[in-house]
Amino acid sequence: MGNIDLSKHEALYGSFDGGHDRQHLIAVRNCALKLAKKYAPNKTDLVYIAATLHDIGLSIDRENHEIEGEKLIRSDLYLKSQLSPDDFEELCHSVGQHRASTGKPKSIVAKIISDADRGGGSNDPGEQFSRAYWYGKKNYPDLTDDEQIWRAAKHQTEKFSPGNYGRRTYFPETEIRLKKIIDPIIKAYKNQDLKFLKSLVKPLLHLY
Ligand SMILES: [Fe+2]
Ligand SMILES: [Fe+2]
Repeated sequence: MGNIDLSKHEALYGSFDGGHDRQHLIAVRNCALKLAKKYAPNKTDLVYIAATLHDIGLSIDRENHEIEGEKLIRSDLYLKSQLSPDDFEELCHSVGQHRASTGKPKSIVAKIISDADRGGGSNDPGEQFSRAYWYGKKNYPDLTDDEQIWRAAKHQTEKFSPGNYGRRTYFPETEIRLKKIIDPIIKAYKNQDLKFLKSLVKPLLHLY
């Protein structure tokens, strides 16, 4: 399984938005492999493949990208020929159920991919907040800069408050990681600390 060529799929991330670029792919993959070493040591190859493919559906449509991603994989005869039927099904399920808002991951690999994607696979509040900020810049271009900051902070606070969908995790390591990246944002939003939130914005993320 280690020899499967995924370069065509990896290349797609070069055309995605700043929240889903190559850096995101690598962060999710590294995070997923760490979880796999502990929770699914005999499935690290499949985890690597699923993490690499998890967002390819963005090349079709953002809104339903998890469904489009699963469809792309199901119609990929090369991938199908390289995996056992069970692994192929687990790959499809993992991509189709990776989203926090809609996913219901049932298998161990699917739970690992879902957890690794939470908070973009990052360990860094700045990266997480920048992703939300740049998403707003692209999708709500009429907001002032301060309004962008508040929009991003409000969205992150709502999505990741304990009990909300962004916080749905399957492994304790993910809860620890999310606490580290999200708590400073939630705290600053509650304290209306515009200066701190602004300091989190990184210029490196590209928009398209
Ligand atoms: Fe996604
Ligand atoms: Fe993702």
